Amino acid sequence: MLKNAALSTLAALTMGLSGTAAFAGDPAAGEREWRGCRSCHALTDDEGNQIQRGGRSAPNLYGIPGAAVASADPDFGYSDPLLAYAETGAVWNEELFVEYVTDPTAFLRHHLGDDSVRSAMTYRMRRGAEDMWAYLESVSPAVEDDAAAGDDAAEDAATD
Ligand code: HEC
Repeated sequence: MLKNAALSTLAALTMGLSGTAAFAGDPAAGEREWRGCRSCHALTDDEGNQIQRGGRSAPNLYGIPGAAVASADPDFGYSDPLLAYAETGAVWNEELFVEYVTDPTAFLRHHLGDDSVRSAMTYRMRRGAEDMWAYLESVSPAVEDDAAAGDDAAEDAATD
């Protein structure tokens, strides 16, 4: 058991490191890119604090990292194609996020295998998607994927 715990901690650490190396987004640069999102999206935490002001024609982007697709803003009426994609159980990770914001219509066509769908999000982020991801991660609650959960457990054990 102990050996397994140590191994999973090691795996979590290694994944964390390789993640950082592969996707070195800059949160400060991402924050500057918010101007591209704000005409449609706001960024408001669960207590109602406005991290970024923005429009209401698109879902609140708080907590996107690690959230199931089309779930971060329960008050928003997501479009049918995005809801169809959400039925696959997909969760926003950096790879999917970057693909989506770069070209939301191409993303849906690719993942739904249907060239007739169009995304309700008409904006395309031409560069800086990794930075935007890093920014959203920096202002969102910790992502609770398996690796992170293992990490937390290890930290709890170490500090207790
Ligand atoms: C012109 C308006 C508009 C702009 C600008 C825009 N979006 Fe969107 N975005 C939308 C709409 C509308 C949706 C909901 C799409 C749907 O329901 O299919 C959406 C959905 C999303 C989602 C999926 C949300 C979820 O809960 O699954 C992400 C992620 C996203 N946008 C990121 C961004 C980012 C980052 C920017 C800025 C770089 C941006 N968007 C700019 C309109 C916009």
